Amino acid sequence: MSEKNPGSVEDRQADHGAGRDYSQVTTKVGYGPNSVTLRDNRTGAEAELPILSSSTGGFDVIDLGRLSGDFNRLKTLDPGYPHTASTVSNITYIDGEQGILQYRGYPIEQLAEQSTFMETAYLLREGELPTKDQLAVFEQEMADHANVPDDVVDVLYAMRNKHPMAMISAAVTALADEHPQSQVPPHHMIAKMPTIVANAFRISRGDDFMEPDKNRPYTERFLHMCFADDRGRYESNPVLTEAMDKIFILHADHEQNASTSTARTVVSTGADPVVAIASGINALWGPKHGGANQAVLLMLDEIGTVDRIPEFVARAKDKDDSFRLMGFGHRIYKNFDPRARIIKAHADEVLSSLHVQDEKLAIARELEQIALQDEYFIARKLYPNVDFYSGIILRAMNFPPNMFTPIFEQGRIAGQVAHMEEVVGKPDPITRPYQLYQGPKKRDFVPMERRDDEPGMTIVPDDHPELV
Ligand code: CMC
Repeated sequence: MSEKNPGSVEDRQADHGAGRDYSQVTTKVGYGPNSVTLRDNRTGAEAELPILSSSTGGFDVIDLGRLSGDFNRLKTLDPGYPHTASTVSNITYIDGEQGILQYRGYPIEQLAEQSTFMETAYLLREGELPTKDQLAVFEQEMADHANVPDDVVDVLYAMRNKHPMAMISAAVTALADEHPQSQVPPHHMIAKMPTIVANAFRISRGDDFMEPDKNRPYTERFLHMCFADDRGRYESNPVLTEAMDKIFILHADHEQNASTSTARTVVSTGADPVVAIASGINALWGPKHGGANQAVLLMLDEIGTVDRIPEFVARAKDKDDSFRLMGFGHRIYKNFDPRARIIKAHADEVLSSLHVQDEKLAIARELEQIALQDEYFIARKLYPNVDFYSGIILRAMNFPPNMFTPIFEQGRIAGQVAHMEEVVGKPDPITRPYQLYQGPKKRDFVPMERRDDEPGMTIVPDDHPELV
């Protein structure tokens, strides 16, 4: 029996690239100590399954691969996937216990401090930091493709009374086509997203569409479209531009989060990666995910004053109350979200340089302190996440709460593109989980005249008394 890990992530990637060809590792027998044995205690049937290792010391995984033979009729049940790795990826690493986040191996703290969003987007796609020339070429390409076709502009106007997340999702869908005829390669979405997001903001507040100014650098181009008057006048503020760029970096990727997983699911069907990104945008919108930044600000508004914090903390702990402390908790982080530490440190700096005094910052700080000392939050390892402080900075920049999640998406587009490029052309199998069915057994159709008049009442057919 071999002592070697037979199906390490590195082996797979060397042989097949990330995330594909599971057959070789799962049909072998004799995996040695790097394996688990699955035993069906009803029948005594056993299967040996290899354990695959992360390249960084992260979670090992049991490769279920193509369980066959006696196990064909047995599936695993893991709602919400807390115990399931859905794919193999080389892009982003998170250690939730230790609060570590790395893009292509580079710690988020170093990238936030020393990189730019353009450089980070290049890194996420290409796997390496760019040279000066490579970065210049990439930035030029992003400027050259920043424009959007007229029908996208029409969609933005048609939806001007909707939430900006609905506007940008529809506008991105309008760019999609039947794969592979799509005229928009996935990475051009990094170029077009600022035009879509900024103009969703403009148009929803009643201003006219503004073309991207290709002579401005990426993040400044975005802010110009957001805030310039209809004659294009805008006073650029380096503090604001740098803060925005950092926010984009911090949101750029987060491995198999709900929206990226959604996009990967859609692209696994053979659909255009651009429409897969639109699906990811819809998944991001929810308040348990990217929509939390808007929800945090609304929560801080509702709390209103520091003395009301205990009342809201008590509500968050009450199982009969659906209220949750927004901006707290994370599926992966059981420690401080490293992005939250960076944003929190940055909030003070940004607010004072913009000469903004926001009493919400004091409420947020106090709320954080109270929650961090509370047994309920300690026991469940609930810490502030990226969304807890980001809204305070974005509000100081004059963005309304309904623009916070679109701005999250503006950063996340870099990661979504990297994930699309990782799978397109060498896809995972179509995402199609099984289910544990617990509905009615087969029964015969009941004609209308035999159904009870009482709403919701179903007649049990005579020949199926077991359905009572
Ligand atoms: N307030 C109060 N209780 C909470 C909270 C919270 N924010 N988050 C989790 N819990 C409790 C939950 O009630 C459960 O308690 P119990 O074990 O007694 O039933 C326990 O903690 C575990 O929660 P869970 O919902 O099973 O955990 P999850 O991993 O499925 O959910 C989460 C993670 C992010 C959806 C959840 O923590 C949450 O809803 N947080 C608030 C929304 C939020 O801030 N989301 C932004 C996440 S960061 C941005 C991103 O990357 O998406």
